Amino acid sequence: MEESYRKDLSHITWDEVFARQVRRAGLVEEWMEALHLQPGARVLDIGTGPGYVSLVLAGRVGPGGLVYAVDRSADALAYLARLQHERGVAQIQRVVADATTLDPGTLHPDSALVTMVLHHTDDPPGIFRSVARLLPSSALAVVAEFHPEGPCEQGPPQQVRVTPEQVRVWCEAAGFGVLTYRRQTPEHYMWIVKRRRDEAECARSTLGDAGADDAAPAALPDEPQP
Ligand SMILES: C[S@@+](CC[C@H](N)C(=O)[O-])C[C@H]1O[C@@H](n2cnc3c(N)ncnc32)[C@H](O)[C@@H]1O
Repeated sequence: MEESYRKDLSHITWDEVFARQVRRAGLVEEWMEALHLQPGARVLDIGTGPGYVSLVLAGRVGPGGLVYAVDRSADALAYLARLQHERGVAQIQRVVADATTLDPGTLHPDSALVTMVLHHTDDPPGIFRSVARLLPSSALAVVAEFHPEGPCEQGPPQQVRVTPEQVRVWCEAAGFGVLTYRRQTPEHYMWIVKRRRDEAECARSTLGDAGADDAAPAALPDEPQP
């Protein structure tokens, strides 16, 4: 555990953050599989940092797809811009923004990753609300974090790690149903979550021509599993 850990990452360089992302590379394939990522997909990467995961995603979605790489740090995204230039990767759109305040009018993802970012933020519920606003109904998202009961041999100290149960509560409150939980390694876990249909859309799709205004709202699909 690092004595000098700071959740804004100001204690280390972006080179070091990138190197840490590379050390977690084995997690990323399962995230992409969970999202059924295909060439041509548009995927949102929340808290991209220097961009290792975004570059892997870009390889998967190909030149016809798009990765929205969102980070509040302009320096982190400048690091990614340099790598894109060196590697000739055009299908990453960098967005310098606080992920809690993303504009649904400008980004149009069909799935999302919220990986290894919650423990760096002051407003995790706000991140999920923002992602929920951007994703269409039934879209999938992967949420991955460091487990508080992990060995803490890498990653943030135990006291800043968020529990899977807390992530589940935040997701459900923001309008996601949780589908699957997995402990990827002793240190890491992931949830697969699905954007619920909003109530207006549920009502529209279940109403007949007559008596529409009196109809009860449809049940929300994908209730979390016990
Ligand atoms: C560990 S880094 C990269 C994590 C990356 N998603 C991964 O899986 O490797 C976390 C990043 O989240 C960013 N971040 C934290 N809170 C944020 C927020 N509210 N909005 C946008 N970016 C945020 C930080 O600037 C940092 O670059």
